[in-house]
Amino acid sequence: MKKRVAVIGAGPSGLAQLRAFQSAKAKGADIPEVVCFEKQSDWGGLWNYTWRTGLDEHGEPVHCSMYRYLWSNGPKEGLEFADYSFEEHFGKQIGSYPPRAVLFDYIEGRVKKAGVRDWIRFSTTIRMVKYNEAKGNFTVTAHDLEADRMYDEEFDNVIVASGHFSVPNVPEYEGFSKFNGRVLHAHDFRDAREFTGKDLLIMGTSYSAEDVGSQCWKYGAKSITSTYRRAPMGFNWPSNWEEKQGLVRVDENTAYFGDGTSKKIDAIILCTGYKHHFPFLPDDLRLKTANRLATADLYKGVVWVHNPKLFYLGMQDQWFTFNMFDAQAWWVRDAIMGRIAIPTDKKVLLKDVEDRVKHEDEGKDAHDAIHYQGDYVKELIAETDYPSFDVDGACEAFFEWKDHKKKDIMKFRDNAYKSVITGTMAPLHHTPWKDALEDSMESYLRN
Ligand SMILES: Cc1cc2nc3c(=O)[nH]c(=O)nc-3n(C[C@H](O)[C@H](O)[C@H](O)COP(=O)(O)OP(=O)(O)OC[C@H]3O[C@@H](n4cnc5c(N)ncnc54)[C@H](O)[C@@H]3O)c2cc1C
Ligand SMILES: NC(=O)c1ccc[n+]([C@@H]2O[C@H](COP(=O)([O-])OP(=O)(O)OC[C@H]3O[C@@H](n4cnc5c(N)ncnc54)[C@H](OP(=O)(O)O)[C@@H]3O)[C@@H](O)[C@H]2O)c1
Repeated sequence: MKKRVAVIGAGPSGLAQLRAFQSAKAKGADIPEVVCFEKQSDWGGLWNYTWRTGLDEHGEPVHCSMYRYLWSNGPKEGLEFADYSFEEHFGKQIGSYPPRAVLFDYIEGRVKKAGVRDWIRFSTTIRMVKYNEAKGNFTVTAHDLEADRMYDEEFDNVIVASGHFSVPNVPEYEGFSKFNGRVLHAHDFRDAREFTGKDLLIMGTSYSAEDVGSQCWKYGAKSITSTYRRAPMGFNWPSNWEEKQGLVRVDENTAYFGDGTSKKIDAIILCTGYKHHFPFLPDDLRLKTANRLATADLYKGVVWVHNPKLFYLGMQDQWFTFNMFDAQAWWVRDAIMGRIAIPTDKKVLLKDVEDRVKHEDEGKDAHDAIHYQGDYVKELIAETDYPSFDVDGACEAFFEWKDHKKKDIMKFRDNAYKSVITGTMAPLHHTPWKDALEDSMESYLRN
């Protein structure tokens, strides 16, 4: 009997896993039977955009946290697949900060070429995974949402690739329930034009706060007030954007801040992050971790230390994304296929986690964090046949990106970087980001 492997989720991480197995098969290896379960009707994970918010057509929580007009927030040169370059996909080099639709097309291109779509059961959500001590395998309970049918199947390994930027962390502040305007989390934000002409309060200081606020500014919000609880973002904001210390409360139409000032506002967007949330996993298999680079309880960042037949992909906070998911997926494939040995002594697994946490904590700033994750990517790919690439060069693109943001937060996307896969320079985009209101793929690729 062939080994059976279940992959939960067909986002960039799950698709990396399918491509990893398919590439081994293409080289003549005898691979396990791989079944991927995806609750949405298409692949791409967060990149599979929908206008829907709340519940989907089947009454399931909408996974998408992306919005119209979203452009990559980091240079594409930091995430390029080593086995499938942007030039291979688009037939030419393209700009460095592609809009969502362009990146979706790129993600899809590689797996279409690999021919793995029929490994995926779409519109199928996983309801439960249980470990069978006696048999040494897992029972996976799936719900076919189209047929409205639940069934169980057994697998030797389970790989959780269900993402962790979908279930919002939603704090409550005094007065929210009597505020007259809209209060929403970034997860439910879709179209910035809804806030044209409005005075907007943005809560949070990380990527969503920065990017959702910038979107709204770009599409004509009257003013942006962003509020921090630790330190301001500190960018050189446009004149109608101010940062305020700690929100204390709101009333019907006004926000009150820690420094004693107040501001009349029309809407509140909570850019307060996401939760690692696995309602389909029992206590003994469920990852509980902060959003950090060295996650809790994952040997090599992927193996569940309490049961090494279970793997997780992409659960780290992310500087590196697609190429890191690849590094993980190739490593997990080789562990499952017996090409890499996972230590049998649990103490060794736990020590690995402890060392990673300590090493991350020793870092002082974002520069160290980027190097830390780059080194992790290097460590994994050195142990597999994933094509080696210039990870330090990708780190350099991130450092330049950070400098460009510091210089002008509304112009950083007007820069271009060199591919570490093909060595070619990206062209400058034809229109400055702030003026490119029409951001379809056709328009972006016209360079
Ligand atoms: C607003 C936003 C913008 C971002 N922008 C960028 C960017 O510009 N560049 C970048 O590199 N990264 C960006 N990211 C980071 C993003 O996390 C990664 O790019 C990537 O999508 C992560 O891939 P994943 O496969 O791990 O998770 P996801 O993309 O979240 O995919 C997980 C998949 O699992 C499925 N799933 C979940 N639960 C179940 C279940 N029970 N049963 C079956 N299927 C299930 C989901 O439907 C989904 O398809 C952004 C994230 C957010 C939230
Ligand atoms: N265009 C793009 O590509 C794009 C756009 C948006 C997001 N993203 C991605 O999405 C992912 C998630 O980013 P994120 O910004 O949503 O989450 P995040 O990085 O986890 O940041 C969460 C923010 O919420 C704040 N916060 C949490 N609880 C709070 C509370 N109770 N009150 C006030 N503030 C609170 C945190 O403040 P403290 O620092 O004080 O804890 C932090 O600033 C990242 O990978 C990012 O790259 C990408």
